[in-house]
Amino acid sequence: MTRLIKKITDIVPFIVVTAINSVALAMLKMGKQADDFRVFLIIAAAVIVTNLILSIVKKVLTYFTIAISSVTLFGILAVFVYPQLGILFLNNTIAALYAALFLITFFPPIFGLDPFTYDFSKKSYPESVHRMPQFKSINLVLNYFWALIFALAFTLTLITYTRDYALQQILQTIVPITLQLVIGLPLTRKLPELLMAKGSQQKNNFSSVKEMFEAMPYGLNTKKAEGLDLVIQFKLNGEETIEGYLTISRNKCSYSDGLHEKPSTTIISDSKLWLDISNGDVSGDEALINKRYTVEGDAGILLTLSDLFTASVPLKRVKKQKKDAAGSHFLYKSFEPGYIKKIVVINSSPRTDKFSKSLMMANKFLSGAESAGAEAEMVNLKDKTINFCTCCYSCWTKTPGVCIFKDDMPKILEKIRMADLIVYVTPLYVFSVSAQLKVFIDRMLPLLQPYMVKTDGITNHPNRFEEDGPNGLIVFSAGGFPEVKKNFDGISAIVRNIGSHFQKTNLMAEFFLPASELLQQPVYRERRTRVEEACFSAGRDAVLTGTISDSYMKIVSDPGVDQDVFIDQANMFWKSLDGKKAYYQGTPKLF
Ligand SMILES: Cc1cc2nc3c(=O)[nH]c(=O)nc-3n(C[C@H](O)[C@H](O)[C@H](O)COP(=O)(O)O)c2cc1C
Repeated sequence: MTRLIKKITDIVPFIVVTAINSVALAMLKMGKQADDFRVFLIIAAAVIVTNLILSIVKKVLTYFTIAISSVTLFGILAVFVYPQLGILFLNNTIAALYAALFLITFFPPIFGLDPFTYDFSKKSYPESVHRMPQFKSINLVLNYFWALIFALAFTLTLITYTRDYALQQILQTIVPITLQLVIGLPLTRKLPELLMAKGSQQKNNFSSVKEMFEAMPYGLNTKKAEGLDLVIQFKLNGEETIEGYLTISRNKCSYSDGLHEKPSTTIISDSKLWLDISNGDVSGDEALINKRYTVEGDAGILLTLSDLFTASVPLKRVKKQKKDAAGSHFLYKSFEPGYIKKIVVINSSPRTDKFSKSLMMANKFLSGAESAGAEAEMVNLKDKTINFCTCCYSCWTKTPGVCIFKDDMPKILEKIRMADLIVYVTPLYVFSVSAQLKVFIDRMLPLLQPYMVKTDGITNHPNRFEEDGPNGLIVFSAGGFPEVKKNFDGISAIVRNIGSHFQKTNLMAEFFLPASELLQQPVYRERRTRVEEACFSAGRDAVLTGTISDSYMKIVSDPGVDQDVFIDQANMFWKSLDGKKAYYQGTPKLF
C-alpha cells in the first residue's frame, strides 16, 4: 500500500505541472489573461498541497516531490501576488521544473544530505550494499551527473528552435527529454559498473561476514576480474559459522551457501578474523604468515582477492592530503581522537635543550600533548650505547626478534612497541638525519619479519609483533640553511618510507625548521614564539583530535627572512664569533 501511495505522490506533481503547462500555454495563446484561469490554478495548488501532506504523513516524501511541488506552488503564488513573475512562470513552466530539479540534485550533498539517487539505487541493492563505501561514492557521481543533465535540459528549454509556436512548444519539451533518454538513462546504467571497475580506496565497514558475502557480488572490480574463473570455498567458525563459496566467473561474482565439489581454494578461518581482514583492519598476508588462518589449494588466489574487491586501508582513518613543508601534497595520516596516549621521543641532537632547535620544537610539542593528557618519555640517544647493525640477520633467523647486541637498544625497542606515537628529533646533518638517529633506525630490524608482502602496491616486511597496535610518527628537524626544499628532502624520504614500509607506522607530520640558528637571536623572538606555539598546538591536537593540521608545519617551515638578508645576518653572526668565542659562549641560550 505504501508503495502505491509513494508512486502516486511521486507522479502527481508531474501531472499537475504538465497540466499547468498545457492549459496555461493554450489559454495565453488564445489571448486570455492569467486571471481567466485562476480557479484552475487554485485547484492545481490544492492538489499539490494535498499531495505534499499525504507524502509527509505516509513518510514517502522524495526530493522530486519537494522540488516540483515547491516550484509549482511558488509559480502559482506569483500569478496572484506578482503577476509579471507569474506569467513568466506560466510561459516557462518546464524550464522552471528543470531548474528545480537541478537545485534539488546539486545542493543536498553539499549540506551533507543524501544524494537524490539514493532513493532509486537503494531499491536495486540489498541493505548490506548500502553501507559499502563505493555505493555512496558512486551515488554521488550519479547525482552530479544528473545535476548536469538537468542544467543542460534547463538551457535546452530556453532555446528558440523555430518561429512556429506549436512546433517550438513540441521541440522545447522533446529535446530535453531526448537528452535524458538518450544520454541520461543509458549512462546511469553504465556508470556504476565503470566506477566499480576502478575500485575504491575507502575502507569497508561490514558488521558481519554474512553481510559481507551478501555485498561482495556487487563490489567486484570487473576490470580486475576479467578472465578469472575460480571458486573460493569458505569454512568459517567462531562468532559466525559459515560454509559457503564465492564463484567468480565471466566478470560476475556470486555467493552460495554450502560446500563446492571442486573449489580452487579453501579458506579456513575464524569468522571475526576474516571480517577484520575483509574490512582492512588486519593484514591478510600477516595473518597468513602467522598461521592465524589456513588455506588449502591455490593460495596464490589470495593475493588477488583483496584487489578484486575494495582496496583495504589500515586501521586508522585516512584524511585528505595536506601540503608538506615544501608545499607539495602528501597524505599524512590521522588517528581517532584520543588514540594517542603514550609518546616516546627519540632525541638524537647532541646539543642540550639550551641550544638544540629540533629539541626546542619537540619539547613544545610534548608540553602540548601532556596538557591534553598524554604521557611522554624522552630517550636521549647521546646517553645510550647503540652498536651499528652488522646485517647478520640473526634477529630474523637464529633468534627471531632478538639482536645479537646486548646494548641499550632492546630496552628502547620495548618502549617503541608500547608507544602510540614515536617522535624523531634530529638535527639536519648533511641533508639527512643525524648519524645517531640513523644507527637507531637501522637497529629497528628485529621489529620486522624477513618475509616480503605487498601493501598498497609496496613491497615490505610484515611486523613481527602482530599484537602491537598502530603508531604515529612525527619528525622534528632543524637546519641552518633557509631552504626547506632539497635541504630536508633526505629526512623526508626516510620518514615517508618508514611510514609506508612499516605497516603499523603512520606518518602524521614533518616539522622542518630552516634558518634555525637565527631563531636564537633576540630579533627573531617573534618567529620563535610562532614556532613554539605551532608545536604546542600540534602536540595538543595530536592527542585530542588525532590529526595535525598542515598549517602548523607551514608556520615552522617559514624561514621568516629573505635569502640575501639571511646570508648577511648569518655571516655577521659567524664573523662575530670568528676566532674569539666558541658557539656556545657567543650565542644566547634558548631558555
Ligand atoms: C655536521 C653538520 C652538518 C650540517 N648539515 C646541514 C645541512 O645539510 N643543511 C642545513 O640546513 N644545515 C646543516 N647543518 C646545520 C644544523 O642543521 C643546524 O645547526 C641545526 O640547528 C642543528 O640542529 P639542533 O639545533 O637541533 O642541534 C649542519 C650542521 C652540522 C654540525
